[in-house]
Amino acid sequence: MDTKILDGKKIAQELKTEIKSEVLRLKEKGIVPGLAVIIVGEDSASKIYVKNKKRACEEVGISSEVYELEEKISQEEIIKLITKLNKDETISGILVQLPLPKHIDKEKIILAIDLKKDVDCFHPENIGKIFLGLGQEFFLPCTPAGILEILKRSEIEIIGKDVVIVGRSNIVGKPLALMMINAGATVTVCNSKTKNLKEKCLGADILISAVGHAGLITADMVKQGAAVVDVGMNRNNEGKLVGDVDFSEVSKIASAITPVPGGVGPMTVVELLKNTVKSAKDFADKLS
Ligand code: GUN
Repeated sequence: MDTKILDGKKIAQELKTEIKSEVLRLKEKGIVPGLAVIIVGEDSASKIYVKNKKRACEEVGISSEVYELEEKISQEEIIKLITKLNKDETISGILVQLPLPKHIDKEKIILAIDLKKDVDCFHPENIGKIFLGLGQEFFLPCTPAGILEILKRSEIEIIGKDVVIVGRSNIVGKPLALMMINAGATVTVCNSKTKNLKEKCLGADILISAVGHAGLITADMVKQGAAVVDVGMNRNNEGKLVGDVDFSEVSKIASAITPVPGGVGPMTVVELLKNTVKSAKDFADKLS
């Protein structure tokens, strides 16, 4: 089997070049897209994600501010900061990195973000637009959008395909299922309690794992010629970053597969940049 490695890093780089040109065009009109990122506490993975997001903003010319808040900060203080950023015209997008400490009500934090600055597409009204299939003119959730983009740019058809998603999180599994339905796929969403997971996965033309469990998807769960997308980010026993999929064995069976790192991760960041630029453009359009 001649397996295609879906190089998210390379596709993301191409997209960043396009975004950079777009940002330059906006700057000529006096518009500078700006992203505010809020991180609470000391979660080491979150710190790395936030650093990557900031670096990506710098690469394309988006201005960015990172607010590093201490673990024991109150919910009210975070909401106060969000309210200030909502009113700040230099800020196009606000992102609160998850997870948050246990004493913070995540839903209340998400609801505090101005709909038009919700570049994560976490607000119920924004995600509701995905549910209704209202499409491209609104924000798209970053990781699912990155997955659809990597498939599109790799010429992997979605219409009519059997898509199996392992994982039902609000950030990946659920919105991805909606977007796949909207794109014309037949979708099965599995979770850790799913009966006969192997058989369900074997039915997939496109198999996507977003669980966070190293080695969950083994070669005997993959149909010959399937496309496999790995959203997992795990550390193995040697401390190496690995996905959910047993890459070395599954890549002998799949027709296409995303690596970890360098697959879905870079695409997620690019979709965040796209949403931030979109917000800045929408704001400018409203003024003109
Ligand atoms: N934590 C893990 N993934 C994400 C994401 O896409 N956005 C935010 N805000 N937090 C996350």
